[in-house]
Amino acid sequence: MFDLIVKHATLPDGREGIDIAIKDGRIAAVEAGITAEAGEVIDATGRLVTPPFVDPHFHMDATLSLGLPRMNVSGTLLEGIALWGELRQIVTREELVERASRYCDLAVSQGLLAIRSHVDTTDPRLVTAEALLEVQARVKPYIDLQLVAFPQDGYFRAPDGVKALDRALDMGVNIVGGIPHFERTMDEGRASVEALCRIAADRGLPVDMHCDETDDPMSRHVETLAAQTVRFGLQGRVAGSHLTSMHSMDNYYVSKLIPLIAEAGMHVIPNPLINIMLQGRHDTYPKRRGMTRVRELMAAGINVAFGHDCVMDPWYSMGSGDMLEVGHMAIHVAQMAGVEDKRKIFDALTVNSARAMALEGYGLQKGCNADLVVLQARDPAEALRLKPVRLAVVKRGRVIARTAPRITALALEGRPVRIDGSVDHAPVR
Ligand code: FE2
Repeated sequence: MFDLIVKHATLPDGREGIDIAIKDGRIAAVEAGITAEAGEVIDATGRLVTPPFVDPHFHMDATLSLGLPRMNVSGTLLEGIALWGELRQIVTREELVERASRYCDLAVSQGLLAIRSHVDTTDPRLVTAEALLEVQARVKPYIDLQLVAFPQDGYFRAPDGVKALDRALDMGVNIVGGIPHFERTMDEGRASVEALCRIAADRGLPVDMHCDETDDPMSRHVETLAAQTVRFGLQGRVAGSHLTSMHSMDNYYVSKLIPLIAEAGMHVIPNPLINIMLQGRHDTYPKRRGMTRVRELMAAGINVAFGHDCVMDPWYSMGSGDMLEVGHMAIHVAQMAGVEDKRKIFDALTVNSARAMALEGYGLQKGCNADLVVLQARDPAEALRLKPVRLAVVKRGRVIARTAPRITALALEGRPVRIDGSVDHAPVR
């Protein structure tokens, strides 16, 4: 007797007609034709069943604050940072908790069950850290929420940057962030990478830095991050977020840099929606896309995981917590539309992100946590194309969100009566 069986699923690797049996919060069997009884059965015939979506880069302290205290008029990264600096001074813990909690509800409905959020540590009051630690505890039963101590205004540049980051780590925020390209000088940026990697080594923590989020091809802090990762023995525990300057770098230099990133076992986290929105803003025409070199990094065997970064905040007025929207944009910006390309993009929203966040028990193999999503789509390519309804979201064997399938009733002479939103060229019987 199982708790739940998901029947006749199509898996991301292409296997069809697979049953997934769940017992005591874990996946007990993954095979065709399971006949045992179960407390609940979900018929997933012809539907893609995937492990949950994972967002390795987000800002939950700023989310859903669009328009507060005013809009970003220029639409630039720098005005966004200034605007957030205004809001940060007046925001309360209660407001932060309320907005972050609302975002977590949205995430669950989208099958997004693990999120790594940066927490701005610039304001020494650290209400951001207090609020997000509270949210982390509150959502623990259904979202793995990781928190990064992020010195938004610069580790050395902000008046209390060094002390405040240390205090946030003491409070229980347990990933070390950074923003070397925003420090006053290249030298201070380099020094910040070294200091922050040293802290991570001393405290036994991972590192996830906003790194080279600029169009300046001479912003080369990723090189330092790779070197310090090796120096401090942090291989596999360090992520470089954004790395947009790589888009504009000289090809010869990149041919040296990518092997350094691979050697350091760094995870790379581009944020396609935000990169295409914010980079190249100082260009006239042609305008650069700005996203880092995804295809080349993947080809070098580097773990590339996509982040959502922002939803309705000073930097980005759009977004819906849907990682498939992120993947959809990645396909366009990276120009990765081939069959194998789309499979890799889907991995970058799921398994690669889980790896970047070092999630345990993630996947659809026997013994993994019973966390999965049933989509109104037949396969990963169709999911990326249609961003379909998440029919069921399961956490530890329990259905925590359901959405009705999208089906349109046509009133057209001689046409099928109903159209299934996942199979837009075939009628529903
Ligand atoms: Fe970010």
